Amino acid sequence: MRGLVIINGYPSAEKFLLQGMRIQKALQAEGIETDIFKNGEAYALVNEAGQIETSLVNNYDFAVYLDKDKYLGNMLEKSGLRLFNSARAVEVCDDKLSTYLALGACGLRLAKTVPAPLCYTKGAKPNVAFLEKVAEILGFPLVVKKSYGSFGAGVQLVHGMPKLQEVAEIFLHEPHFFQQYISASQGKDVRVIVIGGKAIGGMERVAKAGEFRSNIELGGEGKKIVLEQAYNDAAERAAKTLGLDYCGVDLLETEEGPVLCEVNSNAFFDGFERVTGLDVAAAYAHYIADQVKIR
Ligand SMILES: Nc1ncnc2c1ncn2[C@@H]1O[C@H](COP(=O)(O)OP(=O)(O)O)[C@@H](O)[C@H]1O
Ligand SMILES: [Mg+2]
Repeated sequence: MRGLVIINGYPSAEKFLLQGMRIQKALQAEGIETDIFKNGEAYALVNEAGQIETSLVNNYDFAVYLDKDKYLGNMLEKSGLRLFNSARAVEVCDDKLSTYLALGACGLRLAKTVPAPLCYTKGAKPNVAFLEKVAEILGFPLVVKKSYGSFGAGVQLVHGMPKLQEVAEIFLHEPHFFQQYISASQGKDVRVIVIGGKAIGGMERVAKAGEFRSNIELGGEGKKIVLEQAYNDAAERAAKTLGLDYCGVDLLETEEGPVLCEVNSNAFFDGFERVTGLDVAAAYAHYIADQVKIR
């Protein structure tokens, strides 16, 4: 039994390397050796017959896929490798809008969301009549989000029409959407880590003063909480519906219970571990070991 740990190969991925090394060590404690590879370090190609050729598959039984490179993930799976998480689940979670669409009518509460029409035209301007309709549907303030974004970087709170037009113009050539602002959850949310369909714990994140985004990377502070049943259940339901082995689910807090904010297939766990005292790497490795040993 030998596994792969795959991370993104570009410099910003230092955090992925640390996460990969933690998982490698935890798997070793389960008696499973792994090698860490960066995407781009090993070849994978589609040959003339449409078959996948890759140097990665033959020597390995599974891969812990910490990258978001949907092409490599797909190729590895097509060559028969079991991925944690699956390429499809990673791809769906990478795009927040696709996540909401995939969750569909699974019973989770979502914030009302209007996708921005995709724009492929250079020099185009946002459609003002459309933005006025968005404002009418969602009211101000409203949230504008890039479909692909992390660490709060592509998330903005907009208080009026001039700003809405300005942000819509900046985001125009990237997939993005407009979302109801869940004011009850102002500056806070709950992060839950789910492994193998079970919520292992949660923390509440509170934004720094003057900030509505509670991301730790933006100065938010985490505090360990005992998960209320509704939050536990919502996180588990999201993970199961999306077919994720591992994820971090962000839930907005309201009097009526949780509203799903996003699902992170590749959630970093260092901050979560510090706050909760849980060993996420060990829990994930234990789950992986169980899964690969029964195959
Ligand atoms: N609709 C919303 N209403 C209220 N707060 C929100 C809403 N969407 C996002 N936030 C806040 O912004 C933060 C970042 O948004 P999120 O969708 O998780 O993006 P990212 O992937 O960048 O973390 C959330 O953790 C939450 O604190
Ligand atoms: Mg988030």
